[in-house]
Amino acid sequence: VTGDISDTAFLIAYYRALESEAPDAIVRDCHARALAGERGRLVLEGLPIAMRQGWPIAVRTRVYDDMILRAVHGGEVDAVLSLGAGLDARPYRLDLPEALSWVEADLPAIIDYKNGVLSSAVPSCSVERCAVDLADVTARRALLERVAREHDRVFVLTEGFLGHLDEHVVSAMAAELRSLPASRLWAAEIVSPSVLAQARVVDTLREAKIGLKFAPAQGVDFFVERGWRPRCVLSFLDEARRLWRATELLAGTPEQQNALRNASEYLLLESTDGDAVRERSW
Ligand SMILES: C[S@@+](CC[C@H](N)C(=O)[O-])C[C@H]1O[C@@H](n2cnc3c(N)ncnc32)[C@H](O)[C@@H]1O
Repeated sequence: VTGDISDTAFLIAYYRALESEAPDAIVRDCHARALAGERGRLVLEGLPIAMRQGWPIAVRTRVYDDMILRAVHGGEVDAVLSLGAGLDARPYRLDLPEALSWVEADLPAIIDYKNGVLSSAVPSCSVERCAVDLADVTARRALLERVAREHDRVFVLTEGFLGHLDEHVVSAMAAELRSLPASRLWAAEIVSPSVLAQARVVDTLREAKIGLKFAPAQGVDFFVERGWRPRCVLSFLDEARRLWRATELLAGTPEQQNALRNASEYLLLESTDGDAVRERSW
């Protein structure tokens, strides 16, 4: 455990390993345990008990699995660009066409580690890993522009990544991606400012450093103001219900559930100028 931002990648892989081993798993990732390693377990054990539940990550992973599979098999995209990809192993566990390109970017230490663990694993499509500091505007733009030059229709995935960035960085990234016509779809989640306030309390108490920074007050309109159109906005609570998770939260009163509904939302944004299709459920 290093106490740096990349600890979160190990933690998430560990949650995915636990989920994969459950009899009713909604995500099965046979590489998650090796990727999480001992570091994933240690990060989890360093968290307050209330934060040790893995279901929010299982639900989030499954929601993005479904979004990606729909877009890929619907022929909408020819590449996936995963920014802050961490230890995600989707190209090794999802049924993807061989012709799809999967491009991952993360900090050099994570990329080196992942290349080592997955060296003999076989992906279903082509995979490229890029060691890059995405907070560095020049390096980030160079990557986004190259991927947009090499592919016509890109699905951008920022799973668990935006929350760790300053708002001005997310804002710049939203504009950069919007300026590249190849960036067709963008999957991302937002948390509400109330979650950020709670996370700050936790940080202050030094019980856990989840390093949450981005929680736009205007919600999904943050992206609308930057030229992105929401195709779907899914509440984590509704998705948990769909996937039979978080049953203890679902037992709350309607008022309690309404308060929770917007705590975290999964977005699928599109940059086309066609008619908006806004779904609140699948
Ligand atoms: C919460 S993890 C999410 C990982 C992965 N997307 C997943 O859901 O399993 C956040 C990831 O963002 C990466 N990250 C944070 N800041 C970064 C930066 N400036 N440049 C590149 N990657 C960064 C971390 O190394 C980590 O892998």
